[in-house]
Amino acid sequence: MMDNYDWLFQRRAIGSKTAPNLLVLHPLERSDGTAEGKPRESAFAWYRQLAEGQWGILFVECTTCSDDPAERGHSPDGFLMTESNLPEFKRLVREIKAISPETVLMIQLSTGLPGNDRVGNENFMRLPAPAISRAQANMIKGSILAAEAGFDGMDFKLCHGHLTFQLLCEANKRQDEWGGKTLRQKARFTIEVVHGIREELALRKTGDFIVGARISEPSLANLRDIIEVLDKDLRLDFISVSHYPDVFNAEAISILTQAVKMMDPQAAVIQAAFTSYLANQGNPVEKMRQALQSRLAPDFVGFGRQAIADPLTPVKIRKGLYEEINWCKRCNSCFRLKHCKHYGEENELKN
Ligand SMILES: Cc1cc2nc3c(=O)[nH]c(=O)nc-3n(C[C@H](O)[C@H](O)[C@H](O)COP(=O)(O)O)c2cc1C
Ligand code: SF4
Repeated sequence: MMDNYDWLFQRRAIGSKTAPNLLVLHPLERSDGTAEGKPRESAFAWYRQLAEGQWGILFVECTTCSDDPAERGHSPDGFLMTESNLPEFKRLVREIKAISPETVLMIQLSTGLPGNDRVGNENFMRLPAPAISRAQANMIKGSILAAEAGFDGMDFKLCHGHLTFQLLCEANKRQDEWGGKTLRQKARFTIEVVHGIREELALRKTGDFIVGARISEPSLANLRDIIEVLDKDLRLDFISVSHYPDVFNAEAISILTQAVKMMDPQAAVIQAAFTSYLANQGNPVEKMRQALQSRLAPDFVGFGRQAIADPLTPVKIRKGLYEEINWCKRCNSCFRLKHCKHYGEENELKN
């Protein structure tokens, strides 16, 4: 294939950092933590393998900000961002950066409280107000710990049915201080967390920590208000666009991303679900080029399953080893497995 891929391997700013290319490895929960929420040795090995891919931005998986292991919700073996787990997170950062020093390394942080699906919404509606206040304090504390661990930034999980998503969405009919008629009232949790993080960072003189968020609106209804709050009010460094409930819905995510770009945000915009977007038909890399060169192009293209099928995808493209890329077959077995069903451990770079 005649292409030097310079259009993909250009450097681009995200907050105070610069990514070495436009390829993003999105958060991928693997439930590979200890009972205390520390990454297991196998998790360290997995992230070292991902780092070998030299992604422009790498998001470490959804990590719960809480000292209570029970709050990990749907991922009972997930990571916990706590003071006592800080040495392991420092090690994770050290190991990833030793392999891929230019990659912008972030971590997705969540409240972990109930949220997913209809039952999640019922749980959310029953949640006592003080529990939400506690989750808010935990989010600020967890974000500061992530900065202390050495991450370049955090991805505030406002998506996929988590508590923070429930707060923002139309199904939030709470009558207490966490509800409200307007989106800005419902966004109180998010607004206060971002201000709280920035105040703490300023006290510690660590102003270059990136703060962004992942959203997943099912429709355009709330989108304009959410972008107003996240971009115009809070001046977040990036907005990562996903979809809920179908996180793999590439077309919907593409439309939502274009709608966000139409609002001309200052924040860098990351479009998700490129595994599906690319795999439907045609040349995957050509489709990526079309997306990145379209009028309402995202700033970065994000991958989930393709990174599991082949963590080395970016470095293989860069080296022209296009034929060696293991393209994801979208069988979705990796929700249960800790590796790809089809390609397993075969992700060695041959040249
Ligand atoms: C195994 C697995 C784990 C995931 N874990 C997370 C997660 O921790 N946080 C998150 O926001 N999205 C998560 N996702 C969604 C991905 O980040 C991504 O948005 C989704 O896979 C769509 O992209 P793709 O079409 O490139 O796979 C996960 C997806 C998979 C397949
Ligand atoms: S298990 Fe299936 S969906 Fe997951 S990465 Fe492998 S081919 Fe893709």
